[in-house]
Amino acid sequence: MMRLPDYKEARTRDKRDYKRVEFIFDDSIKQKYMGKKFFLKTYGCQMNEHDSENIRALLSELGFEEVDDYNNADLVLLNTCSIRENAHNKAFGMLGRLKHLKGEKKNLIVGLCGCMAQEAGVVDEILRDYKFVNFVFGTHNLYQLPEIIDKAIEENRQQIEVFSREGDLVEGLPVIRTNNYKAYVNIIYGCNKFCTYCIVPYTRGSERSRSREDVLREVDELIKDGYKEITLLGQNVNAYGKDLYDNYTLGNLLEDIAKKDIPRVRFMTSHPWDFTDEMIEVIGKYKNIMPSVHLPVQSGSSRILKLMGRRYTKESYLELFDKIKKVVPGVAISTDIIVGFPGETEEDFLETLDLVERCKYDNAFTFIFSAREGTPACKLKDEVSLKEKEERLQRLNQVVNKYFLENNKKLEESIVSVLVEGLSEKDNMYFGYTDTNKLINFSVDKKINIGDIVNVKVTSAKTWSLDGELVG
Ligand code: 5AD
Ligand code: SF4
Repeated sequence: MMRLPDYKEARTRDKRDYKRVEFIFDDSIKQKYMGKKFFLKTYGCQMNEHDSENIRALLSELGFEEVDDYNNADLVLLNTCSIRENAHNKAFGMLGRLKHLKGEKKNLIVGLCGCMAQEAGVVDEILRDYKFVNFVFGTHNLYQLPEIIDKAIEENRQQIEVFSREGDLVEGLPVIRTNNYKAYVNIIYGCNKFCTYCIVPYTRGSERSRSREDVLREVDELIKDGYKEITLLGQNVNAYGKDLYDNYTLGNLLEDIAKKDIPRVRFMTSHPWDFTDEMIEVIGKYKNIMPSVHLPVQSGSSRILKLMGRRYTKESYLELFDKIKKVVPGVAISTDIIVGFPGETEEDFLETLDLVERCKYDNAFTFIFSAREGTPACKLKDEVSLKEKEERLQRLNQVVNKYFLENNKKLEESIVSVLVEGLSEKDNMYFGYTDTNKLINFSVDKKINIGDIVNVKVTSAKTWSLDGELVG
């Protein structure tokens, strides 16, 4: 079995030509590997985390049991990420260690899936230098995991099965969720934005929304199972419904979910381009839609934004930012920022610093531009040295950190609502996340349970977390 990825094909976008199909597990291989152990390593974003929840369930239906040390595993699977070189290198580093392990343990089965599997360059490298890898499958055919693994073991031959394009939209994959109170729900797959630096439109295919019936049914089941928080997931959730409905958007979906008996609803990630006034109104209107918006800006320079293909300017971003702040009470806005995009000058960078001073983000993920093969930005001339980029990142981090602390300080003495997630290392201290998704460690003077939503008084603020005590 051999099917290789191709970027030219991955780049194509056409009208919705896929259908919804229901997943069926091949009964003949159910529990076939009972007693065998698997180790799963997940790199990258929440989308990958959630895919891994499906992978766990598929492996467990095959009979595998999870272990947390790869030395004890019969099967090791890497669910990989392509977003930056760093993620890439980590996965290849792990493959190096596994090669070594396989030298001692001949029957070890090693597989790779996720975004890196969608990269032709990676698959070529595996074919050339990592012949010991037993199987590779991509983001579009996760549902084939049972057959692919079974074949890899039975035939004892490398299986490479990657679709360049998205296939049918598969519903009903089994899932084993890592958290009993917080759940991810995919609402849209893929991305059509093609920001010039980004590999995601190639590795995750075109935008495909799940039907509202499927999403709402999943939410109902989660509520029945006692879940308290649901995060709607997508590379760009704000494009939800566009490919499927004439008149049903993220705003409508959020509203339909908010009317249900679920205490907390979140969504991520939002592309500023697709954010409509109606969506902002809905987020502001419902108490159970958490006042927390991840709104990646990437750069504060309109010139660089244009080169990035972001389709907004510094000014129009700020307009949207202000609107969200105005309409959603107490909202915390977080962002992603890239420094050192090819050709970024000191002036461009200062525009980014200026924007951060203006937005005073509650949280920000900052990155140095990483050239991804196959993307347009990879071909741009880049004269800024790595040293300069590292310095810019440091300068940027200083400013963003200043505002994390400043925003957190504003919460001192106030009472925040917290979903309790666990006991912290220190005795009798619990931790959880606020409405605005801030980590808080707090003391308690009575019994509480994980999964409760409690009121906590903030006693002191740090840059990346809060301290507090339970009230009432
Ligand atoms: N280099 C650096 N950062 C990137 N991101 C996406 N592609 C790249 C790249 N090539 C960042 C963006 C995005 C986040 C998930 O990762 O900021 O929002
Ligand atoms: Fe990484 Fe993007 Fe793939 Fe997520 S979608 S795993 S961030 S490359």
